[in-house]
Amino acid sequence: MRTQRTQVAIVGAGPSGLLLGQLLHKAGIHTIILERQTGDYVLGRIRAGVLEQVSIDLLDEAGVGARMHKEGLLHRGFELMFEGRRHRVDLHGLTGGRCVMVYGQTELTRDLMEARTAAGLSTVYDARDVGIYDFDTRQPRVRYVKDGIEHELACDFVAGCDGFHGVCRSSVPSGAMTEFEKVYPFGWLGLLSDTPPVCDELIYINSERGFALCSQRSRTRSRYYLQVPLTNKVEEWTDEAFWEELSRRLDDEGRGKLVRGRSLEKSIAPLRSFVAEPLRFGRMFLAGDAGHIVPPTGAKGLNLAATDVKYLSAAFVEYYVDKSEAGIDAYSTRCLRRIWRAERFSWWFTALMHRFSDDGPIVAKFQAAELDYLLHSQAGLRSVAENYVGLPLDFGEDHGLGRSAFTSDLHDNAKCLAGERDHAAGGGIAGHFH
Ligand code: FAD
Ligand code: PHB
Repeated sequence: MRTQRTQVAIVGAGPSGLLLGQLLHKAGIHTIILERQTGDYVLGRIRAGVLEQVSIDLLDEAGVGARMHKEGLLHRGFELMFEGRRHRVDLHGLTGGRCVMVYGQTELTRDLMEARTAAGLSTVYDARDVGIYDFDTRQPRVRYVKDGIEHELACDFVAGCDGFHGVCRSSVPSGAMTEFEKVYPFGWLGLLSDTPPVCDELIYINSERGFALCSQRSRTRSRYYLQVPLTNKVEEWTDEAFWEELSRRLDDEGRGKLVRGRSLEKSIAPLRSFVAEPLRFGRMFLAGDAGHIVPPTGAKGLNLAATDVKYLSAAFVEYYVDKSEAGIDAYSTRCLRRIWRAERFSWWFTALMHRFSDDGPIVAKFQAAELDYLLHSQAGLRSVAENYVGLPLDFGEDHGLGRSAFTSDLHDNAKCLAGERDHAAGGGIAGHFH
């Protein structure tokens, strides 16, 4: 058995684990990341595409934001389609100047991987049989097998960034954790293609034939999704069948603009709402999908993972630099408040936009009435917009001013607008405005 020591053992080299490693490295804290898969496999998984301002800021703080600012697309709104008609949600106008960034999780992961390699930091890919021990003591250990040889990592803390099917959460003794879960009766069939997107902005479609989403990765790469029954297998869907079905769920304008092409990737993702409480077990902390899952409709999963990592890295820095345990003690409660708000929004948006076959025609009528209300109410639209761009980190905290953070934030659009001016002055992002 080979032994090594590190301050924080990170399990999982997805966005959560890599971002945590990078932020801790910046603060001079030593980490080793263990990843079950190969680097190529991790980069091959096509997932998220929309970043909130909080995530953008965090990537900048980690020093990995340069390519994102150059290649990412700032979006000031998105479209909702219902009964064949489109309605624009003006994110920028409704939230006092906030926007989202379209930048693929694959690219963000690649940036983080490259930064880690450039800094000479250790990531063990292909780490088999990872096991977490003694995390209820001050000397946790993580064991794994690499190339047939057993290794042991002695550490101060374990960060469980190993996704929904990881080993960290499942190492928690039953009774120490409560799990809340809802599994939806359909999945998303996604297709990636090197074809120009059907629209400059994302289109969320509630059609009689089911939900569809027109998203993108760049001006020449599209990402589309279709709601499909859980019984469907990806092999059953030819590219032609996908394009045909998407075309049927679009409006005339979309059908006219839809450019079909060979799929670069096709996969089916089940939809689930899930939260584990708490997120801390002695010296082990869960972050990202290891602790919670949202259905992708609100584009919140990766963004929530980023905020967990923000709180966790700050807590570790507080522990090592200020010798205070206040941050690690508060971690779970701080994260869960934000997580439940995003869970609520993602569940609500999923329910609004999908067709639930068992619920009968009355539910489609409820959805129509709700959309009709939302689209004709400034308050309704603002609620959708402020949740979509992401609530501020200090949302709901009364700063002794007698008004909530978001209320004051709404009246202060200086930050985003100033940010845009900075980028435009730098020339990087100006060309992406539309
Ligand atoms: P993961 O990305 O799952 O990474 C966990 C890592 O841990 C993996 O690399 C895994 O191999 C590794 N691992 C697992 N078990 C072990 C083990 N035993 N030992 C070692 N390593 C292990 N989010 C958004 O914010 N916006 C979007 O637009 C969006 N769109 C999405 C679309 C789809 C179709 C899907 C499926 C998800 C989407 N998400 C979106 C969600 C987002 O992709 C996830 O929330 C994000 O990947 C979470 O990152 P993570 O690092 O916590 O977990
Ligand atoms: C994506 O581009 O993959 C994407 C975008 C928005 C979502 C979900 C997924 O809500």
